Amino acid sequence: MIKFDYSGVESNIIGNEHGLNVQEEFNNYREKISQIIADLNQRKDKPGQWLQWMNLGYNEETVWYVKEYASMVEGRFDNLLVLGIGGSALGGLAMTEALLKPYWNYLSNEQRNNYPRIFFLDNIDPDSVNGLLDVLDLKKTLVNVITKSGSTVETMAQYMIVKDRLEQELGDDYRKNIVATTDKQTGILRQLADQEGYKTFVIPDDVGGRFSVFSAVGLLPLALVGIDIDEVVQGIKDIDLALKNMDINNNIAAQNALIHYLLDTQKGKKISVMMPYSSRLRYVPDWFVHLWAESLGKVIDNDGNIVHSGQTPLKAIGATDQYSQMQLYNEGPNDKIINFVRVGEFDNSLEIPKIFEYTGIRYLGGKTINELLDAEADSTKVTLADNSRPTVSIIMPKIDGYHLAQLLYMLEVQTAIAGELYNVNTFNQEGVEQAKNYTYGLMGRSGYEESASEIKNKLDVFNKDTVNV
Ligand code: PA5
Repeated sequence: MIKFDYSGVESNIIGNEHGLNVQEEFNNYREKISQIIADLNQRKDKPGQWLQWMNLGYNEETVWYVKEYASMVEGRFDNLLVLGIGGSALGGLAMTEALLKPYWNYLSNEQRNNYPRIFFLDNIDPDSVNGLLDVLDLKKTLVNVITKSGSTVETMAQYMIVKDRLEQELGDDYRKNIVATTDKQTGILRQLADQEGYKTFVIPDDVGGRFSVFSAVGLLPLALVGIDIDEVVQGIKDIDLALKNMDINNNIAAQNALIHYLLDTQKGKKISVMMPYSSRLRYVPDWFVHLWAESLGKVIDNDGNIVHSGQTPLKAIGATDQYSQMQLYNEGPNDKIINFVRVGEFDNSLEIPKIFEYTGIRYLGGKTINELLDAEADSTKVTLADNSRPTVSIIMPKIDGYHLAQLLYMLEVQTAIAGELYNVNTFNQEGVEQAKNYTYGLMGRSGYEESASEIKNKLDVFNKDTVNV
């Protein structure tokens, strides 16, 4: 199982001003946390609570259908192209990057065991969209279009472009190259998929985008590139059992939620940095940034008070970002908590050769870069503590589907518990709706005429300050 170490926030290590007496706080919040966990587990099956993600580890039917489809198409495609944005892309991206052999897309068919290369088109940058479509042989590409709402503008635009090109290349057969993951009955994509006769997978009711990685949204791309999704599901089940424990002393998600909440509200730690010491985990912080930001950044709490809650999540990668962000973290404002993600055992151990024996780098010879990475992570943690900067560490024994699923699921539970501590609605995202409405207006969607004229007037005011150099 993954482990959690909070010694880096203890006041006896980093001092009272910035640290916590953690055990005392666990005792103070024991009752509250136990109520929160009981309440989440009681509400999880009720419609409209958006807690169905807590059941995804037990969705055997989905796992069966995903595996069946993956084995049906095995060997037929050279590329898998995932179309989606936000929660419909970030989980799959984080997991495939971590679990596939590094540089997967550069490996030969044989080295990939004939599983496809994988590409995520999670933006609408015209140059990169065009560039990717130039690179891919669409005839040999399976396109997985993913959207819960079935209407997200970026995903629909990508889909329309790709579908059109597929049809030009394949004629009527293009349908076999598209698989859609969406709601079971609502949304434009559902309607189109049914009309066009695509193979489809369902995102269950009451599973929001940022909590959907363990539905077909994430499981299908994983299975299509040959990742063992049974291992992933086992990881979720095992950690889910542990995280149902209502005693904060035995529940690592509750511990990290409380630590973040207290550091934010009592110690001014307005920023939470996630810093894995692993390149394979490089997209996990992107997934977490979405989860933490959209779930906790809220203008009002559940009682209608204006709160402007939420910590700003940031991404860093160890050791790389020791050479970019760490100066600020050590000496700049003491407004952050750093979440290290450490890997117990890497798949590879690389020895540094004993060369340059008569130079100042002789000490490296015979050591491994694994030892070096560990030494750097330890040194960074202790230096931050020397400067009274709080840190926690999540330890993955190794990078595999089992432990990665545990990490992501723990972070989901942590987020849900934090939402209850902040007393906000973790599962809505009204703060992004206005920009979507303006976009619809500007793009001429019917029903959004008012938004169109409102934003056009406002843009006129903005554009007055444009300076020509
Ligand atoms: O967390 C969320 O619900 C959102 O950020 C969605 O993931 C994002 O808006 C994409 O939505 P959809 O899957 O409907 O295209």
